[in-house]
Amino acid sequence: MAEMSEVRTFLGCATPKRWIEVALENLPTLLIDHAHCEKKAASTALNLLFRYVDRSNLLTKLSQLAREELLHFEQVLELMTKHGVQYDHMTPARYAMGLRKHIRHTEPEKLVDTLIIGAFIEARSCERFEALAPYLIENPDTQDIGKYYQFLLKSESRHFEDYLNLAKEYAHESIDQRVHEFRDIEKDLIESDDTEFRFHSGVPAIGS
Ligand SMILES: [Fe+2]
Ligand SMILES: [Fe+2]
Repeated sequence: MAEMSEVRTFLGCATPKRWIEVALENLPTLLIDHAHCEKKAASTALNLLFRYVDRSNLLTKLSQLAREELLHFEQVLELMTKHGVQYDHMTPARYAMGLRKHIRHTEPEKLVDTLIIGAFIEARSCERFEALAPYLIENPDTQDIGKYYQFLLKSESRHFEDYLNLAKEYAHESIDQRVHEFRDIEKDLIESDDTEFRFHSGVPAIGS
């Protein structure tokens, strides 16, 4: 499993303080969007299983990952029920699309970029769970959510590592330059102002 320090070094910036404040003020939205993210993570991994049937390591790692994400989905739904939060549709953050629009169209570059983006999404999730957990734990009403977020760090940091290792395995050359480029794009999506608050949003305009 990747160390948290490795996850933090991989990312170009830490989550802005303002995002954390808004997240703590908007827990129902956070939980609903978190549930969507877990479902989406499973679906992205499943899509790769259909598209790249000849990559055996990818099939093994991402099948396991998809199962874990669906389990997380069920666990978040359970937490929502416990806290009286009704699941609902929600427009996605600009984040994933903001990364995916830079995917190259030839192979294996398309696969490598998709895997690098997977590594960034997992690393950012991990960093945000870690940033939120202490605040949630210090409030008795949200302690269970904080503890659950701490528990998620382990699997999400492993997912980060799996995606990154798969990107290295299937690339024909070093991925360093491409990681560097996506690091800048991701940093900008996290640090710039965003019109809405989501799990992976930038600095939210609401509540300010
Ligand atoms: Fe997850
Ligand atoms: Fe994950």
